[in-house]
Amino acid sequence: MMSNMTIHVGIDLGTSTIKVVCGSQVYMIPSIIGEPNPGWTGMSLDKSLVNNMVLIEEDQEWYVGELARTQSEVKRPLASEGQMKSAEETFIAIKAALGLLVDEDEDVIVSTGVPVATSMNVMKNLSRMLKGQINIEIRNDATNEIKSLTINIKKTLVLPEPFGTYYMVLKSKGEETAVDTVIIDIGHGSTDILTMYQGRPMRTASGSLVEATDTLTSRMAKALGEKTGAIIKPFDLMMTIKKGKDTVMIGGQTYSIKEIREYYAKQISKIIIDEVLRLISTLPPDAFVEYYIICGGGAYNFGESIKEAIISGKLVSKPDHVVIPENPVLSNAMGFELVAKTQ
Ligand SMILES: Nc1ncnc2c1ncn2[C@@H]1O[C@H](COP(=O)(O)OP(=O)(O)OP(=O)(O)O)[C@@H](O)[C@H]1O
Ligand SMILES: [Mg+2]
Repeated sequence: MMSNMTIHVGIDLGTSTIKVVCGSQVYMIPSIIGEPNPGWTGMSLDKSLVNNMVLIEEDQEWYVGELARTQSEVKRPLASEGQMKSAEETFIAIKAALGLLVDEDEDVIVSTGVPVATSMNVMKNLSRMLKGQINIEIRNDATNEIKSLTINIKKTLVLPEPFGTYYMVLKSKGEETAVDTVIIDIGHGSTDILTMYQGRPMRTASGSLVEATDTLTSRMAKALGEKTGAIIKPFDLMMTIKKGKDTVMIGGQTYSIKEIREYYAKQISKIIIDEVLRLISTLPPDAFVEYYIICGGGAYNFGESIKEAIISGKLVSKPDHVVIPENPVLSNAMGFELVAKTQ
């Protein structure tokens, strides 16, 4: 094995899912860490490390991602109100993710995105922690196998989440990365809007909204609950939406959700568009937004109606300047991997 190989990792720290991309390795990890809840080890059918991750620290163990989501009694989401809460807790999840990707003691360059609303302080702390020699020890809770390694992080970039998609899309279009662009990243718990002006994020024209995919499932759950008298959890509707189903089964009866989904998707798209218009109205008069890019899992539900509104509002000169990337959920992490490679 060659020593001192450098691997480039792109990470997108979403409020619901952390995405990690490194070459052909792609992982999606729920953004949750939790306290261990031992018992019944080894019964899980799924013995993959990604779904059974325990991070071993000097004084404590943490369940990370799917294992925390399903097994921890005490668990903490890494983000709330559209921002990463603490650099320390985020660091735990990132260490586990790097442990998944890296097999030997290797050099690593990391480029990671955080929600737009994340405080400068958390961003600074995170980039400070993600530097130099880091020991990682992770255990597979299903097999009890332990993986220990030391990585050397040569460089870490902490950037606003939607920047990854911006970088990837402009590169693929052969554009200079200085073209004024608005990126609308519709996630689970928040929508992030990043405005790039003269190649730099424009703070005053960027921001985030709580309206996102979660809003759609919550409103749908409420409406369905009123119609059927049953208690419906928004989370269960998320799976229905993801699978593209038009009906749900409640108390043995089938109900169509097509109309209410379309109704609320339109309402939420309007809220997002209004915010985009408000933000771009703060741009200096010489700014000329050439591209609008829509990404995040919400692009599946709101992408087309937002695209239509941008085109019919004549915000772009050509319809193909409103872009929804092929894989809107992974596009940030994929773009960050490219960013890491330029370092
Ligand atoms: N193929 C799909 N079809 C429909 N909806 C989808 C699809 N894939 C993901 N979603 C929805 O998108 C949401 C997750 O999007 P995403 O992974 O972009 O969020 P996130 O990055 O974790 O959150 P945030 O960007 O708010 O920090 C979920 O609510 C999920 O149900
Ligand atoms: Mg996201």
